[in-house]
Amino acid sequence: LGRNIHFEETVTSTQKIAHHLAYEGAPEGTIVVAEEQTAGRGRLDRVWHSPKHTGVWMSIILRPNIPPYQAPQLTLLAAVGVVQGIQEATGLEADIKWPNDILLNNKKVVGILTELQAEADRINSVIIGIGINVNHTESHFPDFLKNIATSLAIQKGEGIDRARLIQCILVKIEKLYGEYLQHGFKIIKLLWESYAISIGQNIIARTLTGAIEGKALGITDEGVLQLKSLDGTIHHIHSADIELTQN
Ligand code: BTN
Repeated sequence: LGRNIHFEETVTSTQKIAHHLAYEGAPEGTIVVAEEQTAGRGRLDRVWHSPKHTGVWMSIILRPNIPPYQAPQLTLLAAVGVVQGIQEATGLEADIKWPNDILLNNKKVVGILTELQAEADRINSVIIGIGINVNHTESHFPDFLKNIATSLAIQKGEGIDRARLIQCILVKIEKLYGEYLQHGFKIIKLLWESYAISIGQNIIARTLTGAIEGKALGITDEGVLQLKSLDGTIHHIHSADIELTQN
């Protein structure tokens, strides 16, 4: 990964540029990194706050030969790689909240957004967008984020070298991706579960169609969340925000 790096000062969104490059035939492993995004995109159509020189805003182009329904596995793979890369670069031990929020002290420090370019049953490319709050101080966060977001520097109590962080994360993701292509999702799933805080807990899953409360049983082999609701029904959740309730 990262043999082909596009570094930009200001962009609307690294996802947008990566989509364009992928469409034009950019090779697997191409990375887009920017110092600032003016229209950073989050999951579920949200905005991703991406101020200048403080974060890591990057998108990775992968071209795996897998059916589209397995793509969520790559999101989980990326989350594992980011947790391991953060651990290596800073010593901080982060948790994963399904599907791919990365938390320190229960506050969000990383968001991951996976998007596909697919035709019928074939993936053309997977664009994995990773946003990391690195050297933000409290004053970089707008009021509505102050209680729910944090940065690596706030948690560590010192500034973090962003270039080294990117390098550590790319090395980890590359290793996991090689493992995944060779041996499948099994090992990635075990690693993901070892970092996940939501499994076995009572949660509320807010989907676009409503909220379901119950116990998070685990993830399927495709990376889909299994939730047992209060009436005993098992639900398969593909996309939602989850909140841990008091257990
Ligand atoms: C989330 O909602 O948690 C996902 C946030 C993903 C943000 C990253 S920053 C780099 C890439 N470019 C974007 O516009 N979004 C992703």
